[in-house]
Amino acid sequence: MKRFHVTTFGCQMNEHDSERMKGMLESLGYSEAPAREEADLILFNTCSIREKADERFVSHLYDARALKRKDPERVIGVGGCWAQSVKDQVFRDYPFVDVAFGPGQVHKLAEFLTSDSLTAQGFFEFEGFTGHLPGKRARDVHAWVQISAGCNMKCSYCIVPSTRGREVSRPFEELVEEVRVLASEGVREVTLLGQNVNSYGTRLRPEPRKFSELLHAVDAIDGIERIRYTSPHPAHMTEDVIRAHAELESVCQHIHLPLQAGSSRVLKRMRRTYGRERFMDRVALIREHVPDCAITTDIIVGFPGETEAEFAETLEVVEEVGFDGAFTFIYSPRRDTEAAEFVDEFVPHEVQTERMERLVEAVQRRARERAQRFVGRTLDVLVDGPSRYDPARLRGRTTHNKVVNFDGLAAPGEFVSVEIATATSQSLTGSESLLSRVA
Ligand code: SAH
Ligand code: SF4
Ligand code: F3S
Repeated sequence: MKRFHVTTFGCQMNEHDSERMKGMLESLGYSEAPAREEADLILFNTCSIREKADERFVSHLYDARALKRKDPERVIGVGGCWAQSVKDQVFRDYPFVDVAFGPGQVHKLAEFLTSDSLTAQGFFEFEGFTGHLPGKRARDVHAWVQISAGCNMKCSYCIVPSTRGREVSRPFEELVEEVRVLASEGVREVTLLGQNVNSYGTRLRPEPRKFSELLHAVDAIDGIERIRYTSPHPAHMTEDVIRAHAELESVCQHIHLPLQAGSSRVLKRMRRTYGRERFMDRVALIREHVPDCAITTDIIVGFPGETEAEFAETLEVVEEVGFDGAFTFIYSPRRDTEAAEFVDEFVPHEVQTERMERLVEAVQRRARERAQRFVGRTLDVLVDGPSRYDPARLRGRTTHNKVVNFDGLAAPGEFVSVEIATATSQSLTGSESLLSRVA
């Protein structure tokens, strides 16, 4: 039996697509190898969001080349956003690659593997959602559900519109049915995925749909106890979506709302289509309807032309909002994006790293302060498995998406009540409430 190994880089969308690749390969009779060295088919699902992502991946690719030199029968495949963004150059620059495909052509991998052709092939036209393919879930009780592909926004720093193409929503009924099947298989938590989830459905025909309708429909499915989604766009964050967090029991008390920058001028140059006020107004609306909701974000520092005063506005927003967590990035110029042309205004690297340090300090301090509200409370935790730091303890997540390391006896996939004892910016600790077991 032939064996495959997949290395996944990038966002949840890639994790989702990799699960589909694995499921598809198993349906072709392949099995998963525990390590790259043992695989006949070495696959990479790639990301190109920042320069570092590219660099990391290329060193893995050379590792695969070394393995292929030892055994030339090995097949090397490269899928995902990096593959899409460099297209046919892949074969020129990395001639040892056998097959390359973009995010919309995962199924083509099967076509390649089952054809007689031995020549290298590339597949880069969007043809369909991987949601149709069989999946192999990393966790039994959690599933990714891709609700749309692509992105119609034009954020000036971002490579995604060129790697994932125009936005297409999957049919409403098809998604509801997919979640129903997942629930019948034991899935308790779903994460709805899209680059801009809250623009879901506006162009569906014959009947346009709203993202909040989808939340209602998924909430109504028996067995689904937690619904998450990523990422919503602040410009499209409407009140009906925010209310769904208050009104629907399974919609989690967590919203990841990417800020990117605190200065309206920078946001404009980023083409984010909202300003600081609109963002703060969304936060206020969330706090009004869902007071305990965790809010996390993405922030870019050192965008071309960002002045010290503008960066200070980002710090102000971080102080004012008090995010429960944030992913922070140094601006990285990407090929074929508008901002990559603003060369004259590039912020020197030392300035970027210095701003980054100040930002991380503020983010972590505020997140730590925010997390103190959980100490002394008893929270529902969905158990993932053993704690990463101490295998004698368990690890799970609260509805706020906070990681909890705790003492307890529960099995992965169970919901338990945990009394929270301590909180840092990153995680909580506690112990399983014995009362919850008795009940
Ligand atoms: N569609 C999602 C995010 C996709 S990329 C959204 O719009 O929220 C995830 C994050 O990477 C972005 O939110 C942004 O903060 C960061 N990012 C994207 N392009 C970048 C670049 N060129 N340099 C630095 N960070 C970037
Ligand atoms: Fe990129 Fe902006 Fe689309 Fe997000 S919304 S994927 S940041 S272009
Ligand atoms: Fe990376 Fe593509 Fe996701 S560039 S972040 S894998 S959409």
